[in-house]
Amino acid sequence: MNTISYSTQASYLFMSTSPGLIDPSGRQIKYLRVSVTDRCDLRCSYCLPKDFKDFQEPDDWLNFEEMTRIIAAFARLGATQVRLTGGEPLVRNNFPELVNQITAIPELTDLSLSTNATRLNKQAVALKKAGIERINVSLDTLDPDKFKEITQGKLQKVLDGLQAAKAAGITPIKINMVVMKGVNDTEVEDMVNYCIENDFTLRFIETMPMGDTGRDASNKYLSLQTVKQQLAEKFDLIPTQMRGAGPARYYNIANTKINIGFITPISQHFCETCNRVRLTVDGTLYLCLGQEHSYPLRELLRNGISDTELEQHIIKAIALKPENHEFSENPTKLVRFMSQTGG
Ligand SMILES: C[S@@+](CC[C@H](N)C(=O)[O-])C[C@H]1O[C@@H](n2cnc3c(N)ncnc32)[C@H](O)[C@@H]1O
Ligand code: SF4
Repeated sequence: MNTISYSTQASYLFMSTSPGLIDPSGRQIKYLRVSVTDRCDLRCSYCLPKDFKDFQEPDDWLNFEEMTRIIAAFARLGATQVRLTGGEPLVRNNFPELVNQITAIPELTDLSLSTNATRLNKQAVALKKAGIERINVSLDTLDPDKFKEITQGKLQKVLDGLQAAKAAGITPIKINMVVMKGVNDTEVEDMVNYCIENDFTLRFIETMPMGDTGRDASNKYLSLQTVKQQLAEKFDLIPTQMRGAGPARYYNIANTKINIGFITPISQHFCETCNRVRLTVDGTLYLCLGQEHSYPLRELLRNGISDTELEQHIIKAIALKPENHEFSENPTKLVRFMSQTGG
């Protein structure tokens, strides 16, 4: 991996004079996504190769205390939102314990989870109790055979997981559907109806060329502008806002409580409002989903730096955040898969 690395000498540290984390483009960084594992029990065709084995070694994983320490440092620097993601977060042992530790950080106002829901049936109650209020769930099709084809897994587990989350009182539940031409593009209306029936928010996502899998999927790329037009012929779409909306542009479906969102990193990118960075399970901070700019934190922690020094390293890292991704201009750039950085 073309990692940009930095000396760990204390000599280059500097103090910020401005409040919060402001990147070189003047954006305030308020949101940290944490990939708690790069492993997954599914193999979505656009994300993780079927035969992939090059996962991070357990010795290189941040433990829960290390993750919580980094999150707390971000929170002291003004971050208020955290999303736990992966890989599949629920395959990490004792995952609710991590949630417990994070919810004790006073400055955070929003803690959410991205999951494939295969293990939610067993864990939804514990997660809700630990402090997960809202979740995003990947679901690209309601056809069991097609689900198997796309993910190598069983659709019913996901549907059961979703019902368990609903019964546990987790809300909102947002469905993430990656739309691919010739794969599931004829199912967008069915998915809208499923979400209306279940009171779920629905977000459509464009394929991103991350790793070979993402690039293969990008051969089936479909602009969501087309999907929006297709849906507008069937449903009355009224522009609306949602809490934690991030890059999605939302529409309410008239006469329902349901909102649908469009995440369009390719056809209409949203880099100018990007307020997030990503921490991987090995303790590397990635400053942009679509670039290699990164900053290693794990060894600094294990070498015994103080909380103040950790904050200074985070400030130094934020200064490396690039202005935008180059998914369209330079689609072969990224070797890493989405599962490695966390979506
Ligand atoms: C990497 S997954 C991690 C969390 C969890 N395993 C899940 O599937 O929700 C996060 C999101 O990334 C999306 N994703 C993965 N690879 C992608 C790609 N190449 N293009 C667009 N979205 C992708 C998935 O659909 C999912 O919604
Ligand atoms: S999208 Fe999520 S569920 Fe699918 S392979 Fe990637 S990490 Fe696993």
